[in-house]
Amino acid sequence: MNTSLGFDRRLWPQDLRGSRAHARMLAAAGVLSPAERDELLRGLDLVEAELAGGTFPFSENDEDIHMAVERRLTELIGPVGGKLHTARSRNDQVATDMALFVRDEAGEAVKRIDALARTLVAVAEQHVDVALPGYTHLQRAQPVYLAHHLLAYVWMLLRDRDRFAFVASRSVAALPLGAGALAGVNFATDRGMVAEELGFDHVAPNSIDAVSNRDFVLDYLGAAATCLTHLSRLGAELVLWSSSEFGFVRLPDAWSSGSSIMPQKKNPDAAELLRAKAPRVVGSLAGFYGVLHALPLTYNKDMQEDKEPLFDAVDTLTVSLEAAEGMIRGAEFDEERMAAAASDDLIAATDIADLYVKRGMPFREAHGIVGGLVREAVAAGIPLRELRSEHLDEEARALLERSSWLESKDSEGGTASGRVRAQLAAARAALASAPP
Ligand code: ARG
Repeated sequence: MNTSLGFDRRLWPQDLRGSRAHARMLAAAGVLSPAERDELLRGLDLVEAELAGGTFPFSENDEDIHMAVERRLTELIGPVGGKLHTARSRNDQVATDMALFVRDEAGEAVKRIDALARTLVAVAEQHVDVALPGYTHLQRAQPVYLAHHLLAYVWMLLRDRDRFAFVASRSVAALPLGAGALAGVNFATDRGMVAEELGFDHVAPNSIDAVSNRDFVLDYLGAAATCLTHLSRLGAELVLWSSSEFGFVRLPDAWSSGSSIMPQKKNPDAAELLRAKAPRVVGSLAGFYGVLHALPLTYNKDMQEDKEPLFDAVDTLTVSLEAAEGMIRGAEFDEERMAAAASDDLIAATDIADLYVKRGMPFREAHGIVGGLVREAVAAGIPLRELRSEHLDEEARALLERSSWLESKDSEGGTASGRVRAQLAAARAALASAPP
């Protein structure tokens, strides 16, 4: 129950980074001799080689990664190993390891999100003039260009990228190490030196807050939950679009699987999983809020429950971003199926209503009239342009024939191809600039 080694061994790179900085600082502050420092650094190299090579002898008695490293260090270099923990507690040590881990992984997330967004932009660029229906309520609503639809995800991902960039820079700006157990330490340490070596912006100004704080875990989980929620919508659309009913896309074989008994089927497994992943991270976020909620200051063992949800979120996000990128890169869009679905002239109903509005009719009235026309056409089983009605004069019929429904959406942010090209350029520029 008490042990966390089964999962926190994953923190060893961060734990060693923190320990090296601590040892160097202790020597600079005169707490350790230069020879002791060098011996500790040599020992930490040996420990690192074992951990990286998979030969590190973990023991049943190691409660967590911090104790395992210290125990092994002392086995390898003798009693001087016991000096590493001078002016330090596992409370400020674990907070520092976790902050470093969150910073590393938030940086990874920024890169992976960037890669997916770039792939989406490249695929969008190849489909600037491919029309498909845009949907509301999953009913055909107004046609849009495929590039426009794909770019919607790019803007979501750019916001996600910014959120992770914030986590990597601001959420983990303050160094916990040096806070000791909770009140500070009995040595004249130089925390600024440690902060600088470990890449923190500043030293946590309050030792109590330093060891109690796990906001950066909440922030990572929150950013991951939102990003995965975006990916779940992409996954859901890929599932729909790859069905025979839609037939808009063929997903790459590497991201699909055959049915064990129905030879004609190709299942969009990866897209379905993409659709399903977000709730577990949303659950982890809610769960970890529960852990921190009403927790008295300062460190409490409850906080060890930060690790599994965070590690799971990191792995879930990584695999989901990879899958999304692979599926988008290998997707084959059926441009004819999409165009056919988009050419249903009922989809131009809004354009006819707008024609009446431009002639001075109130929008509500125009909406009512065109709604009536649509009902008549559907009841008669004919396209709108074949309907005989006093409300469909020459100009309105021309609108139906002209297939001009996309190019007329030439408002800022609209789907007209000029606007989509401008949007592509804007997305490229946003990707080229570093997140704030
Ligand atoms: N394994 C512990 C954790 O993850 C490390 C800190 C333990 N500190 C303590 N005072 N028991 O939270």
